[in-house]
Amino acid sequence: MRRAMAAPDRGPRALSVCLLPAALRARFGVPQLRGTLDDRADVEHRDRRLQPLPRQHAPGGLVLAEPAAAETIEATLRLLREPRIAPSILSADFARLGEQVAEVMAVGARVIHVDVMDGHFVPPITFGALIVDALADQVHGAGGILDVHLMIERPERYVADIARAGADSITIHVEATPHVHYTLQAIRESGCAAGAAICPATPAAVLDEIAQELLDLALCMSVNPGWGGQTFIPWSLDKLSRMRRALPEHVALEVDGGVHNGTARSCVDAGANLLVTGSAVFGSADPAAAYNSIASAAGIG
Ligand code: DX5
Ligand code: ZN
Repeated sequence: MRRAMAAPDRGPRALSVCLLPAALRARFGVPQLRGTLDDRADVEHRDRRLQPLPRQHAPGGLVLAEPAAAETIEATLRLLREPRIAPSILSADFARLGEQVAEVMAVGARVIHVDVMDGHFVPPITFGALIVDALADQVHGAGGILDVHLMIERPERYVADIARAGADSITIHVEATPHVHYTLQAIRESGCAAGAAICPATPAAVLDEIAQELLDLALCMSVNPGWGGQTFIPWSLDKLSRMRRALPEHVALEVDGGVHNGTARSCVDAGANLLVTGSAVFGSADPAAAYNSIASAAGIG
């Protein structure tokens, strides 16, 4: 009986400005409402207010590239695709960081691996854009690149900062964001090569949907991320060969964790071309000699 009765009139009341049509808002001088995309962009993407669209040359239908950026990215991609040892500064002596990087670059290192950790995705906290910025001129001046491995939650929030600091390639973990596709796009838009890393328990097939269009580099973790000096997980070799077979030829394959004289060659044989080495190089009393020894054990250069 109650349900059949109409609700009583509530009488006149204030109308939310959200409900006023734009023409009325303009007439009464109601200020522009803030859009929800901006609210989210501030929180999630910091200074990225709107997702930029690729610039088009309308008559030709061509995407215009920035000439300078295109040159740099080509050089980066060349280095990433070559067989190389990539020393990780995680195990370096931070009081002599520049000196230690110079030592390995003097004997041929050109890809310097930078491990950024946030205390959330992995327990330790390391460093971020400040260290990338501190090394950028030295590494670029010596013909090298900074290969930044982000072990951080929601890496999309830091892509612009890390790129501005001087990174050449940025690798994110697929386990760290629901927006892998978007984040890889943002990395490329920032002028860097785009990489995706997978933890030991993550199936390689997770990269299938993005590999052809969005990936420049795939990183196979051969230890659980977070610490240097761990033991190489032997089953990673099988994963590396499966990844190499599945990935398009242009995508570089990097292996990270537990790579040293005893494991380097089998990683190359399994299809990896970029071998991250932290403790085996910078944990040694002579990083340059250690670099040479691992490179020759791996049959590289
Ligand atoms: C670990 C880092 C690695 C680390 C590797 O989570 O991603 O890059 O530096 O260290 P080693 O070579 O000592 O295993
Ligand atoms: Zn790493």
